[in-house]
Amino acid sequence: MGIHNKINDEQIRKSNEKFNKEFIKSLNLSFNIDHFEGKLDKGKCKDSTVYQLVWLKNIDRLINLIPKEINIENYNLCDVGCGLCISTIYFQKNYVFKSFSGFDYNQELIFTSKKIINELDLNNKISVEIDNAVNIKLKSKPYILFLFNPFGSQTLNLFLNNNLENLKSNKSIILYANDLWKDSINGFKKVYRDDFYNLSTILF
Ligand SMILES: C[S@@+](CC[C@H](N)C(=O)[O-])C[C@H]1O[C@@H](n2cnc3c(N)ncnc32)[C@H](O)[C@@H]1O
Repeated sequence: MGIHNKINDEQIRKSNEKFNKEFIKSLNLSFNIDHFEGKLDKGKCKDSTVYQLVWLKNIDRLINLIPKEINIENYNLCDVGCGLCISTIYFQKNYVFKSFSGFDYNQELIFTSKKIINELDLNNKISVEIDNAVNIKLKSKPYILFLFNPFGSQTLNLFLNNNLENLKSNKSIILYANDLWKDSINGFKKVYRDDFYNLSTILF
């Protein structure tokens, strides 16, 4: 498996992983989801990354980078490459947004996401769909998009170019974890960065 953010400090890794484990345990799912880590839907998108659960604490760190005068309650959360949607569920359980959604091009992951959402009785709170970021056209509304390094610069550019005017006119925000391709993002107004954890909160 890839190393999160290339952070080698054992203590930091352990505490972030422990936090993830405790969150998953708190969901009390009836089935084990560990074996999904590292899953890749081969052949659809050349620069896609495998499924890996984000360090959930990085979601808090990204949210904390948003200037306090911005009220996130006016935004719709969309988890781009949501995988099993554990990250989407973490947002839903910890923050107030207008809506919570996610999409992933991997059918198996979305099938399991739906099972998880159903089991947690979150059907009326979180919606997830099979979709490829290459094709997606976002609705015209303010989004907070969460990306945990789902793909490389090629797909990122296609996704952003298809949606750039929308992102700008709705003053949307990207929360980008393990922001490897941040320098290929254009047209934004301001970036707030956590250089240690490699997190960018990008305001359009
Ligand atoms: C690193 S995982 C992140 C999962 C989840 N958001 C999280 O933070 O725990 C990246 C996800 O992006 C998905 N993905 C990769 N390329 C994609 C594409 N072109 N369109 C939609 N999803 C994609 C993968 O299937 C994988 O589940």
